[in-house]
Amino acid sequence: MKQISKIGLSLVAMAFITVTGFANSKQSVSDESIGLRKTSVDAEDIVKPSVTKYGKAAPGTSHKIKRAFQDAPPMVPHDVEGMLPITVNDNQCISCHMPEVAASMGATPVPKSHFTNFRPLPKYDGQTFDKTVDDMKNETAIKEQETLVNARFNCSQCHAPQSEGELVKNNFKAVYTKKDGANKSSWSGSKLTEGLDTLNDK
Ligand code: HEC
Ligand code: HEC
Repeated sequence: MKQISKIGLSLVAMAFITVTGFANSKQSVSDESIGLRKTSVDAEDIVKPSVTKYGKAAPGTSHKIKRAFQDAPPMVPHDVEGMLPITVNDNQCISCHMPEVAASMGATPVPKSHFTNFRPLPKYDGQTFDKTVDDMKNETAIKEQETLVNARFNCSQCHAPQSEGELVKNNFKAVYTKKDGANKSSWSGSKLTEGLDTLNDK
């Protein structure tokens, strides 16, 4: 009996030392500093996230932003006020970015990949739809077309405007596989099918 209570006591003492040790440790982290909200996790009423500041420069006066990695979708560097949301009848992005007008607007043209359909067309006999590719073999269909592929119509799904918020420091350093990778996409031609078990649907 005596021995048990001795063990019990020393366990309590150890727990006490550990707890005070943590509290006094210089490495303790305050809950204000761990999240993006910069307030205590208990203080729901005074949460102050940092302000989101989108660029206000009109198209033609902004500065392009370096790509995050090789062939990343570029961020939108200019103001998009009045352009969003994109709807079937109102897509102002294409009025400046389609290849036939882009050069005269000083805008980067929509690349070849946006004119390539990766979605296999099902077979349809008027009654039932049938798959044309084998999902189990990772097959895909690749078809170049004259018009913008519908899957690329909603530009803002992938191209977001850049905010200048003061959230957290970004230490990521991009390594590009192409010399001009920071400013240009290289994803076209045979690169589109590199490494893919592809059913060419041309
Ligand atoms: C009035 C013409 C115009 C409209 C409308 C427009 N853009 Fe732009 N866009 C430009 C120009 C010009 C640039 C080059 C940067 C500059 O000069 O401001 C650009 C740059 C970009 C870039 C960066 C390209 C790169 O190479 O880094 C992206 C992405 C982009 N725009 C997406 C969009 C999206 C998405 C929309 C619709 C919400 C849109 N743009 C609407 C003219 C336009
Ligand atoms: C499903 C995602 C997606 C959608 C939707 C999309 N893009 Fe992209 N975009 C990308 C990716 C990924 C890249 C970089 C790789 C590439 O070139 O395909 C890119 C590249 C670009 C580039 C840079 C081309 C270059 O030569 O460097 C422009 C400009 C662009 N897109 C404009 C647009 C516009 C305008 C729309 C709407 C009409 C749009 N994109 C819709 C994903 C998308």
